[in-house]
Amino acid sequence: MGEQLSLEERFQAYVDGENKVEPKDWMPEAYRKTLIRQISQHAHSEVVGMLPEANWITRAPSLRRKVALLAKVQDEAGHGLYLYSAAETLGESRESMIDALLTGKAKYSSIFNYPTMSWADIGAIGWLVDGAAIQNQVMLTRTSYGPYARAMVRICKEESFHQRQGYEIIMTLARGTEAQKKMAQDALNRWWWPSLMMFGPRDDDSPNSARSMKWKIKRKSNDELRQEFIDKTVPQGLFLGLTFPDDKLKWNEERGSYDSGEINWDEFYEILKGNGPCNKQRLNDRIKAHEDGEWIRAAANAYAEKQSKRKETHAA
Ligand code: 3HC
Repeated sequence: MGEQLSLEERFQAYVDGENKVEPKDWMPEAYRKTLIRQISQHAHSEVVGMLPEANWITRAPSLRRKVALLAKVQDEAGHGLYLYSAAETLGESRESMIDALLTGKAKYSSIFNYPTMSWADIGAIGWLVDGAAIQNQVMLTRTSYGPYARAMVRICKEESFHQRQGYEIIMTLARGTEAQKKMAQDALNRWWWPSLMMFGPRDDDSPNSARSMKWKIKRKSNDELRQEFIDKTVPQGLFLGLTFPDDKLKWNEERGSYDSGEINWDEFYEILKGNGPCNKQRLNDRIKAHEDGEWIRAAANAYAEKQSKRKETHAA
């Protein structure tokens, strides 16, 4: 009889066979843990990502822009809920995930620790931040964990609206007055490099990528996705007559790709340590929102308890 394949080996063969792992399937504890880490931090990013944009809902230049921004911010809240629900299928409670965010134990995307200085930033966020998120999330629609892959399908559909409305804002400004074009250029200058940081550290400096690739949680590496995003986005900016804040950015005919300069990794890791321009403000805003929502959670829990008691008395 061939030697008994270990559970891990059978799991790896199952994933290598392009099968989706579902909540009730056996999975290595490390697979479960890394998914809880990634999915919950993805959810935190969606929820914290609402904050920089909310700043401009009351300042939108027209009713049309306000409606589009409101819809986008509401979508992000929904994305957060899908992702917290996907993480809960792995046995992690919503309370513990929220607690990890509010105590600073869990990360959220570095990109949301930058201030939104002008209306053009709302365009740059849609165009660049949601554009980068789409690059990553389309890849995640093929992730090996079923609930995460399925959440991504719905989220990607809404993200493409986010990206288009952002690019339209930037296009309008770039084709507007000199002052408007300068706003668009200023926003690109401030958001370009932080958007590239969204894809994570270089592959050689990524402690999680090798294992996530082996388990098909990640299908492409951080650098691969970053390069795809650069190659897709640079022509969009050049088409509008904008320039990129990278004097090394140059089309490489041989590679069929753009060469680009080095990311400021010190800035990246400082932000991960909580020392970005808005880290403290973002966390304080989330803590205040959580405290303000305490009465709603208490009322919902009291109602649920009353309902279950009522069911018990009927059943008796
Ligand atoms: N910001 C904050 N932390 C980051 C980061 C970033 N941009 N990039 C990497 N990190 C963290 C990782 O979480 C990891 O720390 P941890 O082990 O404590 O969690 C560490 O840096 C090393 O990075 P790795 O590349 O080894 O980690 P991963 O394999 O997890 O890859 C990732 C990082 C590519 C961000 C991956 O976690 C991922 O794909 N996450 C899902 C997508 C996501 O979270 N996107 C965030 C934006 S969501 C968004 O923009 C919403 C849109 O609607 C606007």
